Amino acid sequence: MIQAPKGTRDIFGAEAETFSRLETIARRVFDRYQFKEVRTPLFESADLFSRTLGATSDVVEKEMFTFADRGGRVFALRPEGTAGVVRHFLEQKLFVKGGVHRLYYAGAMFRAERPQAGRYRQFFQIGSEHFGDPSPAADTDTIVLVSKILRDFGVKEVTLQINSLGSDECRRKYRKVLSSYLEKRKKDLTEESRKRMTVNPLRVLDSKIDGPKLKDAPALAGYLLPGDAAHYKTVLSLLTEAGLPYEENPRLVRGLDYYTRTVFEFVSPQLGAQNAVAAGGRYDRLVKDLGGPDTPAVGFALGMDRLVSLLTQKQSDFSNRNISRLAVVAPLVEEGLRPAFRIAHQLREQGISAPPVMVRRKIKNILSLAVEMNANWAILIGEDELASRKATVKDLSTRDQTQVEFDEVARSLT
Ligand code: HAM
Repeated sequence: MIQAPKGTRDIFGAEAETFSRLETIARRVFDRYQFKEVRTPLFESADLFSRTLGATSDVVEKEMFTFADRGGRVFALRPEGTAGVVRHFLEQKLFVKGGVHRLYYAGAMFRAERPQAGRYRQFFQIGSEHFGDPSPAADTDTIVLVSKILRDFGVKEVTLQINSLGSDECRRKYRKVLSSYLEKRKKDLTEESRKRMTVNPLRVLDSKIDGPKLKDAPALAGYLLPGDAAHYKTVLSLLTEAGLPYEENPRLVRGLDYYTRTVFEFVSPQLGAQNAVAAGGRYDRLVKDLGGPDTPAVGFALGMDRLVSLLTQKQSDFSNRNISRLAVVAPLVEEGLRPAFRIAHQLREQGISAPPVMVRRKIKNILSLAVEMNANWAILIGEDELASRKATVKDLSTRDQTQVEFDEVARSLT
């Protein structure tokens, strides 16, 4: 039997409803912050990702799904959204208009990772990118926006971790100091960390295995330039202003290479190893690195699969079915199909949900189906009803039953 590819899955039923609800909530929040939607292609030139995410990042080194078209051009399924949005920003020359540009996106991302709980090869992100604003307020606004989405969605137990990676200049100095520190500890480190030591020593501190062994490593905070330190301080004070608690994590470095200054993650203690539900930060040099003018930017992405699973774990009210009212209209005989079809149509016109009409001969089956669907009413049309031209309307919460003229049914329930 053909199965879904490893690391992918079908999302259906209550989980699909929760995915949609999360998207609806996020769109509402983006609208409140005046972000506009952008839908970029699911695949891009592979170069775009190696130039943005860093040739030595895990994502580019071993997790991209790349393929060549018939002309030999090499593409990759997008492993994240930022690169495509920056490409859009440049291609549409949004910088010519000046000012700030706030864009958001929602959709599938692809990484050839080893699948495990909360880690998929096709997963879904919602994210935003805010171009043209160097102010620390833009960093804090992005963070507060994420927390608003999480709260509106009903996720409470998350911790915001935050750090500053400073600018390129201070990181260059710090890398030198850190490299010589790591050189002395080389024999204690895993093979992976030794490799990272030369290409991106900051990520060694982030390692789950080696990180705890390196408690006395020099801290990046000591190397922040005055401008970087002041920026970070303002971000933190604005978070306090917004009433959002945070934890400073001096080891938070992120796995993608484009970040400068502020980086953050929202983590959930309920999620095990893959505990980040949303993450992001500032990336002030990326637009320029890709050939555009100097443009500061800050953004984030949240992992929809992980967030939805948090609500499933808590078994909270998954669907919003009860919000809209529902009637099951059932003809008991073939001749009842026409009036039933008409009543169902009128109900939907009046804003009451009704599934497509089907002839069902057993009242017991109709009622149990209606209860299973959480319906408010069952509307039955059998021989007697056809003769009197009155439907039997059964209220499923009170069990009351009334006879209502066919064309009055919809109106009587609204
Ligand atoms: P990221 O940390 O790679 O950042 O991913 C953001 C979120 O996507 C993670 O916190 C996680 O919830 C979810 N995620 C990542 N990989 C997987 C996976 N294999 N399976 C399930 N969920 C996953 C970014 O992607 C950046 N583009 C964020 C950003 C935007 N920074 C600036 N602007």
